[in-house]
Amino acid sequence: MIVSIIGAGNMGRGIASRALAGGHTVRLIDRSHKKAADLADELRGRAPGAAEVNASDAIGVEDADVVVLAVPYPAGRDVVAEYGTALTGSVLVDISNPVDFNTLDGLAVPAGTSAAELIAAEAAPGAPVVKAFNTTLAGTLVDGQVAGQPLDVLIAGDEADAKLTVAELASSSGLRALDVGPLRRARELEALGFLNITIQEPLGLNWSSAIKIIS
Ligand SMILES: NC(=O)c1ccc[n+]([C@@H]2O[C@H](COP(=O)([O-])OP(=O)(O)OC[C@H]3O[C@@H](n4cnc5c(N)ncnc54)[C@H](OP(=O)(O)O)[C@@H]3O)[C@@H](O)[C@H]2O)c1
Repeated sequence: MIVSIIGAGNMGRGIASRALAGGHTVRLIDRSHKKAADLADELRGRAPGAAEVNASDAIGVEDADVVVLAVPYPAGRDVVAEYGTALTGSVLVDISNPVDFNTLDGLAVPAGTSAAELIAAEAAPGAPVVKAFNTTLAGTLVDGQVAGQPLDVLIAGDEADAKLTVAELASSSGLRALDVGPLRRARELEALGFLNITIQEPLGLNWSSAIKIIS
């Protein structure tokens, strides 16, 4: 699969690490081309001979199977509006936790919706939005496991094929994919992601914990 990742920061690193481990081709796109190029060099250095990873410009989305929006919310909305129909044919993955940075005490999206649904409203036809990876912490994605157990990737979306594509990306990359329902479940996933952030310091988790469904 061709996986284009917009945003070469911490989550870009984590998801790219997993996708490369799964043998996928990764294209890194950032508003700083140097940042994307540096991350591509780092990933190549860490796993020589691994699947292809390159820094790219916007053209890197055009034949992508999956485009991961690894940017802060609301930049994901701007990116989707800016790229427009160049994203048609790709599954868009919204990984954001839209924290209200003014208060750090809640989410910056209105009640009764989610960042994922607001991004989906901006997306071109044929570019389905799937919520995933917002409950996995960036540092843990590099190895893909915590305490010897694969990370759970909770996936919400309205198009079954698009969710299957993201589930295939996750499972081929050593993670456990769990379909949690339609895109409106992103509201609960974003609340869970926010809780995950707020418990890190009080519980001394050091950003190295995982949310796991066990049965
Ligand atoms: N960190 C986590 O553990 C974690 C876990 C789950 C979900 N998330 C979500 O993942 C997303 C990314 O978080 P992160 O921790 O990876 O952030 P980060 O380390 O700050 O990386 C974000 C990257 O996106 C770039 N960027 C910002 N606006 C952009 C735009 N309009 N076009 C292209 N690139 C742009 C940033 O560039 P600059 O450096 O120039 O700003 C930076 O390189 C956020 O939505 C966050 O809520 C994070």
